[in-house]
Amino acid sequence: MPIVSRSTDPRISVIGTGYLGATHAVCMAELGFDVIGVDIDTRRVRRLSAGEVPFYEPGLEALLRKNLEAGRLTFTGSLAEAVERADVHFVCVGTPQRPDSGAADLRHVDAAVSGLITAGLGPDDLVVGKSTVPAGTATRLAARLAAGAPGAELAWNPEFLREGFAVDDTLRPDRLVFGVAPRGMAERRLRAVYAQMIGDDVPVVVTDLTTAELVKVAANAFLATKISFINAMAEVCEATGGDVVELAGALAHDARIGHRFLQAGIGFGGGCLPKDIRAFQAHADELGVGRALAFLGEVDAVNIRARARAVALTREVLGDSPANRTVGVLGAAFKPNSDDIRDSPALEVAEALRRAGAHVSVYDPAAVENGRACHPNLCFADSVVGAVAGAEVVLVLTEWHEFRELDPAVLRPHVARPVVIDGRGALDPHRWRAAGWTYRALGRPPR
Ligand code: UDX
Repeated sequence: MPIVSRSTDPRISVIGTGYLGATHAVCMAELGFDVIGVDIDTRRVRRLSAGEVPFYEPGLEALLRKNLEAGRLTFTGSLAEAVERADVHFVCVGTPQRPDSGAADLRHVDAAVSGLITAGLGPDDLVVGKSTVPAGTATRLAARLAAGAPGAELAWNPEFLREGFAVDDTLRPDRLVFGVAPRGMAERRLRAVYAQMIGDDVPVVVTDLTTAELVKVAANAFLATKISFINAMAEVCEATGGDVVELAGALAHDARIGHRFLQAGIGFGGGCLPKDIRAFQAHADELGVGRALAFLGEVDAVNIRARARAVALTREVLGDSPANRTVGVLGAAFKPNSDDIRDSPALEVAEALRRAGAHVSVYDPAAVENGRACHPNLCFADSVVGAVAGAEVVLVLTEWHEFRELDPAVLRPHVARPVVIDGRGALDPHRWRAAGWTYRALGRPPR
């Protein structure tokens, strides 16, 4: 039985149906609202309307189909239709890095808001930004709304979802952040949208527009810093003979530090952390407080070095140039449970080895198709065994469960030399060594 929205319920539109928008639209429909998703990409609209999620995200496609069938969810290319049918409009378009600098490209956000105004936004409409933007963007957009659609309000409600856990993070977030203008109705309306989660005790932080924008970039800057911190410690361990995994484990006993995001390896990638720290730094420079965020330049540099260190370690175990050597790479996605290869450390390492002359064969449980499209010179296999066949070294570069569970004894006869480089701390060194493998990892002594 479809849940029928009450007439007082918010009617929701979601502008931009990429990773964030498609997940948000589906989850809002799952909460029982009528939702219309809007995208300028007609192919994407067609696929979503047909119940097909254009990227890999566990659980999302089943929920998409369920809500399409229930009649609560539709997709369109028309902003006018969104304005006609909805009164709370979530802006979920991308804010990629500009090609000429580290700054964020806000064209899509600007176009979405201008498009809504042109489409006839009325005084009862609420526009809610979810995209990651430099602080001050919302205030600028609010002024544009005041001029172009008097009475319509703007709020900022940043999204913290992780790829691979997008549905769960959207339906059961750690917190909700509402950036609102004083004396408006936005908070009340956002509370109506998120009533179910608020009823389940998800904390709500109500703040001004600028602070809400900053929460998102500060959270990502902190997470990136944590990863680069442990990767910097890995470099120190390599110079001193220490073991970064034991170090991280000992640090984690201090509850103020904790254990999460202290996994040393080839570092962070993806569509968010790298571009967000660069945009944050570029914005701080513009504001004249570049010194305050200068450390993010180091966070970025440590992260990029982690990839180069994996290549150097491969050269070291090969004992010579990688030219004409056979290398098996397990992992292409920037993280497990995703087919996203944007700024993927795994593929960058694989490419660097290929450029150095190695015969590289890559396998990933979900990202082979995307990998092939963007890296036509790399060779992709359709199984672990296919990728490691005849390899003189095997690199594990994305921590998929399938790789963690590999049986080193079963794999051994397929390789030319049983040498594994664990780029993600995903494997149990004792198990691999017991099966006759040489196990190496960044920041860990050879033993
Ligand atoms: C991130 C933020 O976590 C999320 O809150 C925000 O909304 C979007 O950006 P996501 O891009 O999905 O999410 O990736 P995340 O899970 O944060 O991982 C980022 C990268 O860091 C991955 O490449 C991962 O492999 C790497 N990583 C993570 C480490 O190298 N070490 C760690 O300890 C943790």
